[in-house]
Amino acid sequence: MIVFASRTGNVRYIASKLKAEPIEISEELMLKKPYLLITYTDGLGDIPEKVTRFLEQNAKFCKGVVVSGNSNFGHTVFGGAGEKIAATYHIPLVRKLDLRGYQTDYEAIQQFYETRVTG
Ligand SMILES: Cc1cc2nc3c(=O)[nH]c(=O)nc-3n(C[C@H](O)[C@H](O)[C@H](O)COP(=O)(O)O)c2cc1C
Repeated sequence: MIVFASRTGNVRYIASKLKAEPIEISEELMLKKPYLLITYTDGLGDIPEKVTRFLEQNAKFCKGVVVSGNSNFGHTVFGGAGEKIAATYHIPLVRKLDLRGYQTDYEAIQQFYETRVTG
């Protein structure tokens, strides 16, 4: 399972490049199976509020995080949401993508997904 949060469409696009059924984070979502999280970065390297709330209920089955950011924000906050989630929940930061990223990113994410999430 792939779970994502997207505000302006980049993460939605990334999720669409993967061979898996993506589920968008919503208020009531409660998961009982392993999943990969894909999120954007907000504020100054921050986790989006809706992702924080989701993880408060669902961190247990989160096997890894992929983050999208914009490198123009500067390296100290680029993709900061992914760093924070990985550190807080002790899970791997699988990949940090600049905006929509590239084909090589999707391939690396797919491989992680098949070996460490569904595998
Ligand atoms: C208000 C705002 C704050 C942002 N802050 C950061 C940031 O601190 N670091 C970063 O890497 N990207 C930041 N971004 C860029 C987004 O994370 C990036 O464009 C991402 O691809 C958006 O994904 P989405 O299109 O799925 O919403 C910010 C974007 C907005 C609109």
